[in-house]
This record gives sequence, C-alpha cells and structure tokens, in this order.
Amino acid sequence: MSTLRQSPAWQGLQTLASEQASIADREQTSPAAAIPICAEVGGLHLDASGQQLSQPVFDALLQLVRERKVADWTQRMLQGEAINQSEQRPVLHAALRAQTHDRHCDSGAISQALAARQRMRRLIDQACRGALTGTPVRHVINIGIGGSDNGPRLACTALRTALLPDMDVRFAANLDPADLHSALQGVDPAATLFIAVSKSFRTEETLANARRARDWLQQQFPSEDSATLVARHFIAVTGNSEVASSFGIPAERVLPLWDWVGGRFSLWSPAGLALAFAIGMDGFEQLLAGARAMDQHFQSAPIEKNLPLLLAMVDIWNVNFRHADSHAVIPYSHDLRSLPLWLQQLEMESNGKSMDRDGALVDYATSPIVWGSAGTDSQHSYHQLLHQGTALTPVDFILPLADGKGMAADRALIANALAQATALSHPDSPTRRGRQPWSMLLIQQLDAHNLGMLLALYEHKVFAEGVIWNLNSFDQPGVEAGKRLAQQIARGVQSGGVQPGGVQPGAGKNAEAATDAALAALVKRALS
Ligand code: F6P
Repeated sequence: MSTLRQSPAWQGLQTLASEQASIADREQTSPAAAIPICAEVGGLHLDASGQQLSQPVFDALLQLVRERKVADWTQRMLQGEAINQSEQRPVLHAALRAQTHDRHCDSGAISQALAARQRMRRLIDQACRGALTGTPVRHVINIGIGGSDNGPRLACTALRTALLPDMDVRFAANLDPADLHSALQGVDPAATLFIAVSKSFRTEETLANARRARDWLQQQFPSEDSATLVARHFIAVTGNSEVASSFGIPAERVLPLWDWVGGRFSLWSPAGLALAFAIGMDGFEQLLAGARAMDQHFQSAPIEKNLPLLLAMVDIWNVNFRHADSHAVIPYSHDLRSLPLWLQQLEMESNGKSMDRDGALVDYATSPIVWGSAGTDSQHSYHQLLHQGTALTPVDFILPLADGKGMAADRALIANALAQATALSHPDSPTRRGRQPWSMLLIQQLDAHNLGMLLALYEHKVFAEGVIWNLNSFDQPGVEAGKRLAQQIARGVQSGGVQPGGVQPGAGKNAEAATDAALAALVKRALS
C-alpha cells in the first residue's frame, strides 16, 4: 500500500467516509452536521459550505495537508528546486508575476521575467506606431496551441470590457486549416501581426499554421519575397530560438519562454503577448499583480482560510473518499465561458496521472475529469444529471458580481446561480437529496487583477493536489508519447511502407513499432 494511503490522516478520512456512507444509506440523507466553510482574499470570496463537510472530516483534511508537507513543497518550488524531476527542471511560473524584492522566489528568474516584460512593452509600442510592419498594427493573430493558446484566449474573452478599441486579437490553434482561415477573415494584411507561440517550436499544429500564415502573406503581397514578409509580420515567443530564426523571425522579435515555465502555466510570460496587445501592457501588469496577490495568500494564509488549499481539500475528499470521477465548473458569466477549457488542460494535464513521482503505480484516484460551460446555458443542457443523475458530481459555481467596468451582473443571472446551488444541496429538493457537493466562488468584479487571482488560485489548487497525491504535476509524458506516435504514423503513411491489414504481433522491432504500423495501416485503408 502507498505511503499516502498508510498515512494517519488518510486512514482517518477512510474511517469517516465509511461511517458517513452508512449513515447516508440508512437515513437516505447526508449527515446533518455540515460546517460552514468560507474564506476570502481581495476580490474573491469562497463559500464551500455546499460541500457539506463535517467538522471531523474538515479536521482530518487539514491534517492531511500538514502531513503531506504542502507548505514545504511550495517553498521548494518557489526557490527554484528542480521539482519537475522527470524533466529535471525547476517550476517557477510564480516568478513571472513576482517583484524584485519578493525574497521567497528565485531572483534570477524574476530578473529574466522583468527584462522580457520590458521587451514586450517595447515591441507593442513599436507595433502600434507602425515601426514593425510599416503600418500601425490593428490585427494580432496568436498562433499556438494548448498552453500557448488557452490562457491568452481565455483572458481576452474574460476581459472583454478592458479590450482596447483599436486592437483586434484573434487566435488560431487547430491543425484544421479552417481555424486559421476563420481568423484571417476581414483582416487588413498590411496591419496584421502574427505571434507564433511555442515553447518547443516543434509543435505540429503551430508550425503548420505558421507556414500557412506565411503562404497567406505571400498571396497578399506577391511582389515581395517570403523571407521579407516573415521578418516583417511575425513575432515568436519560444524557448527554441534557433528554430524560430530558421523560420526567418529576426532575433530582436523573438521573446523567450524558459524551460522553468510549463506551457499550461505560461500566460504570465511572453506567451501572454497577444493578451498584452489586447488590453495593453498596463492591463497585463494588473493581471500579474492579481496572480501575485494570490501567490502571497497561498504562502501565508492559514490552511483553514487558504483558498487554494480549501479547494484542494474538498477535491481530495470528493475524489478519494466519495469517489467522484468528474468535476463540473460552471461560470455564471458569458465572459468566463472559456474557463472550463483552460482548467481542463491545467488540471488534467497536470494531475491526470497514474504513476507517482517515484515511478510507482498509484493505488488511489487522481485528477477527476473536469468539464463545464457557462450558466445559464448549462441549465438547459446537463443540469438534469447534476440534480438527479446517479453520479456524484461536485460543482464549482463561479459568479462575478460585476463586469470589469463595475457594471453589476444581471440580477436574474445571480438568482439562477444561487437557485441551482440551493437546489443541489437542499435536503427537501427533488434532487439526490441534497448530496451533490458544490462550492461558490464570488468575484467582486471581473477585472484583470481579479482574473489573475482566480487563475493563480486554480494553479495552486492543482499544485497542492499534486503534492498530496505524490505526483509530478509539471510533466505530460502521455501527451508527448501521443505526439511521437502521430509523427511516426504520418511518416509511415507518407512512405506507403505499411501494408493494409497491419502487421502481425512480433513483426515489428517492438510492440510500439507494431502498434504504429497497425494504426498507419488503418489510416491508409481509410484514405484509400
Ligand atoms: O498539449 C501538449 C503540450 O505539450 C502542452 O503541454 C503545451 O502547452 C502544448 O502542447 C504546446 O506546446 P508548445 O508550446 O511547445 O508548442
């Protein structure tokens, strides 16, 4: 049995869970002695009372956080220890939003981040003056995928009220050419800037879209050569400046993405350049300031008032002791409609793992499936299941009380969010008898500062869960394996070396080759 499952806090939680399950079965209701769980920091207020935790469960969860030494791991992360062991890298996204005098955080990383932000500011200024493309830039197209797309895309949508009127920022991520094609509709080519964002500069989707963008420029300016066009209309954000430069992007237009920043944690880095174009560099700094405020709260608030830790604690209870295998996130805000997508990558790419950091198979559940969409649309889709389905599905309701300009949220929207939460937990409602757990996160105003706090809150929650589950939350070996396999299959299909019918077991050098060949044959048959 793993050390985690043998730990006193885990054993205690196990006993409490069995006791509660039998009471619930007997009485067909949840235990009555649920405690209020509320905490706030800055413009965020968490009410997790809908989780219906009893005091002994809450105490055992506090003990678990202490036993698993989450605070020590946080210090190790901030000080630059290589806690991403498999890739032997430090994990320093918090340094991207730190200030020089923040002594808890790696000072070298802080200086690099500050220098990069000065370059971002200069480049934006040059672009707006027409010094990059010859015409003031009006359209920015972010070409990237995963962490090189989700964060800035989410923030541009969420900060609708802060968007600069003269700047039109768009995104293209998918390998399907239709994505870039749509992003290019109606833009003025002379005033268009592409930002190719890729930490590796090897990602198939991003390279394909960058080449398509280059071809499109060539069609728009047939008398100019493609090298001139790339040098004029492209910026790169990458950790692989050689490949960016071999694509033709001049060094002064290549911004860094360091190996100490994971893609899904990179919004705060130059990977957020498209967002900085959209809301201005000062707005971008406000986002960072919000995230920094959450970093400070995470490090200093006591566990029982610490928002990321409280969210992690209730998740652990629901996943490991109440056996919830999915988790819905429902923002009652059209502007936050992309949040579930961003969270999917953050949570599932970080903690969707069955191997612990020591390479052993885990004997407990890890990341649930994260899903969701904006309320009230969601009410007319899957809320029936939340209310009366057989699965235990914890819900995070996220409710901004005002938009970025301070305009109060629609009263009916607020009423609907509160009604849904009440119905989920009320013992007299026609639901699963009040046994569907939920948390409510109120945001005073959806501005850049509070958005920064919200996103950093979830980053730290995911980190804390990873520590408790003894996972390396910062690699993604499964995704990398899929990328390699796709390349091998593509090569197999291109060379035509694979016969329909696939290969017999053992025909290839190893199982991987056999799988590659069989899959390639399948694709080839489908194409023929
Ligand atoms: O989705 C897998 C992934 O490796 C993510 O971790 C990353 O955010 C994304 O691909 C893009 O990678 P890159 O920034 O190197 O293009």
